[in-house]
Amino acid sequence: MFRKKPFHSLMSHDSEHKLVRSLTWVHLVALGIGAIVGTGIFTLIGVGAERAGPAVLLSFALAGVVCACAALAYAEMAAMVPASGGAYTYSYVALGEPIAWLVGWCLILEYSLVVSTVAVGWSGYVVGFLHGFGIELPLALTAGPHAGGVLNVPAILITIAVAALLIRGTHESAKLNTILVCIKITALLIFVAVALPHFNPENMKPFMPHGFVKSLGANGIESGVMAAAAIVFFAFYGFDAIATAAEEAKNPDRDLAIGIIGSMVGCTIIYILVALAALGAVSYTVFANSAEPLALILRELNQSALSTVIAAAAVVALPTVLLAFLYGQSRIFFVMARDGLLPNRLAKINPKTGTPVTITVATTILVASLAGVARLDEIAAMANAGTLVAFMAVGGSMLVMRKTDPDRKRTFRAPAAWLVGTVAISGCLYLFLSLPTKTLMWFVVWNAIGTMVYALYSRRSSALNHTTASGA
Ligand code: ALA
Repeated sequence: MFRKKPFHSLMSHDSEHKLVRSLTWVHLVALGIGAIVGTGIFTLIGVGAERAGPAVLLSFALAGVVCACAALAYAEMAAMVPASGGAYTYSYVALGEPIAWLVGWCLILEYSLVVSTVAVGWSGYVVGFLHGFGIELPLALTAGPHAGGVLNVPAILITIAVAALLIRGTHESAKLNTILVCIKITALLIFVAVALPHFNPENMKPFMPHGFVKSLGANGIESGVMAAAAIVFFAFYGFDAIATAAEEAKNPDRDLAIGIIGSMVGCTIIYILVALAALGAVSYTVFANSAEPLALILRELNQSALSTVIAAAAVVALPTVLLAFLYGQSRIFFVMARDGLLPNRLAKINPKTGTPVTITVATTILVASLAGVARLDEIAAMANAGTLVAFMAVGGSMLVMRKTDPDRKRTFRAPAAWLVGTVAISGCLYLFLSLPTKTLMWFVVWNAIGTMVYALYSRRSSALNHTTASGA
């Protein structure tokens, strides 16, 4: 029942199903940072502050530690299994097909909902930015029904624009991504340089107004350091997008580990600085739950011009997150289709562009439709749920492979693997349980559907039915 994907099958795909190797480690680090720094630090820092107060710093640190452990496990698995599909493929090799299917199903949730979330967030920045220049867009065309509109057109358009870039070919997109990443990082560094000198220890008091564990606050919102950590966790992931690019990396053995760990460490340092600067500069109540917390803080510090610069940078650079996740999403679908768990004809590579056009178009239709109508905070929490399950599976896969296949070549070995793996699994589980109760209920529904699809379609159409299933 728990049949596994044989190792030797990972890299032997016919040319029709093969991706072009065009990415260097610089592209991979940029892809990682491009995917990690986004709505999480630009927007959700406010939501986190509302739920934890100044102790959101602790939330960032906790989510960061858990993510770092997951990143180490990812790096080990990515260097050992340099094939597309990330957590899904690792689970297929280490934990067996049913678990891999569920992980893939959760990754669909992660990637598609992140794309939709960031597209909606981007749309908000665009509306605000244009408003600053006296240009008003009608509400009906800039928000979903839950916010009094009809359709979020800018969110749909940005998703389509990014998809068009991806379809043109990975390399061009990766180059543009590198430039946009520089803009984004510069904007955050400007924020830190301006806000940090205003640090006032009084703004840190009371440090933990809503306690540590998730509990229902008087305002009806589930609050506490862990509740906030479960949300700001959104800010940390994205490095896994690099692992999904394994088959397109020029030198995957070495470069995937550099890409994953390099981008993770870099982002964590920047986040802690941004959070410290933000919380110290003004009271957290000023920017709690703001749609544009960093810009708001700069305005509070009488830096309107710089505030506009930060907003502009967000508008220009947030699409890098879309790029990375849409890229990752189409690759996950692609690999699952190639494995026969989704309809196989979706996995064809277009000979002209060298990219999986059909699956990218299908993905775009799905995520753009969601972006047109979805609610930001709820879909962000759902994206986190999917990601946390995938990270638990990666931690588990690393530990299982250490036991079942200790001699296989690992170009990167996670230090203190048992500790790292255990912290990754138990930390992700604790974060998962700290998500809003409503999110957890929807998550169960999503996976019940996934289980049915697997039982009725995927198990029978799996490519493993045509090969000898084995454990190694
Ligand atoms: N880490 C990504 C972001 O914050 C998903 O937008």
